[in-house]
Amino acid sequence: MNRCDRLRQSMMEDEAVLITSCPNIFYYSGFTSEDAKIVITKSQQMLFTDSRYTIQARLEAKGFDIYDKADDFKKAIKGLECKIICFEEEALSVAQYEKLKAFGKELKPFSKEIKKPRETKDSAELRKIAEAERLGDEAFSYILKHISVGRTEKEIASELEFFMRKNGASALSFETICASGVRSAMPHGTASDKVIKKGDFVTLDFGCILDGYCSDMTRTIVMGTPSQKQKEIYDVVLKAQISAINAVKCGARCADCDMAARKIIEDAGYGNNFGHGTGHSVGIEIHESPNLSPKSDAILQAGNVVTVEPGIYIDGFGGVRIEDLVQINDQNTENLTKSVKDLIII
Ligand code: GLY
Ligand code: MN
Repeated sequence: MNRCDRLRQSMMEDEAVLITSCPNIFYYSGFTSEDAKIVITKSQQMLFTDSRYTIQARLEAKGFDIYDKADDFKKAIKGLECKIICFEEEALSVAQYEKLKAFGKELKPFSKEIKKPRETKDSAELRKIAEAERLGDEAFSYILKHISVGRTEKEIASELEFFMRKNGASALSFETICASGVRSAMPHGTASDKVIKKGDFVTLDFGCILDGYCSDMTRTIVMGTPSQKQKEIYDVVLKAQISAINAVKCGARCADCDMAARKIIEDAGYGNNFGHGTGHSVGIEIHESPNLSPKSDAILQAGNVVTVEPGIYIDGFGGVRIEDLVQINDQNTENLTKSVKDLIII
């Protein structure tokens, strides 16, 4: 069954669905622009954009009627026979909501129903995510040959990014994190002008978008011989990461997968230095559901793709995070990240 038909199964007879977020527009129509809306009724699929994108929309959004005039959307909404418009409450500004309300239809929040199918990736999506992650692995191998004491975090981040773009990525999954020395204690320390020094931990957390799908990986390396404390922290994070990877499987509770990592970090005395969840799903967007979080009551299913990324962050000292991307199948799991995880000493 195609994606629109599957969505129709969660709609009532007198409902139409209005989709306004780019990731969901891409998921349901294949259209990649930043400026569009789609409306799906029981019998129609309409895409509203403007003349900048009409040719592209015809090529990408197969099975959709394409409209390119500003008034087309208004006419179409007024002309809908259904009484209820299901909309993305997570992707509509208050001003847009007010405009929509003015059409006089009943409005029904529908973000959950629209997004839910994206949690279970089909085989084509799984292939694309694996390919994106493969490019991430290649970028990591490349940067290991170019990172050295005396270079800045920004130089390293931009070389990683250029490598991924040159090799097919359309964009980055998120702003590249390159955090060295005491800056590595910032879990999301994006690259700065700091010069990388001897003895620094360097955390590299990066990803690209390839064929519409994101990759995500993190490695922490050390510049020169690690101290005892650096080795200790790295070993705890690695043990925690492997423990959570072993817990990730079809049918596992997300909270238990988180605890598999968290317990090891807590038992080593670093519980207060691990403030974020153990992982998140990845797909068209870098952060998707379900999450490997202590608060989650979700159960992992075949077709989920989750990161496993525990860390320890010590203010004034530095930090370590190790992140792999894991695909969940019915009978097993596959770690899509192939880069080594032993502490790399440059
Ligand atoms: N790897 C970036 C993030 O998970 O937010
Ligand atoms: Mn991540």
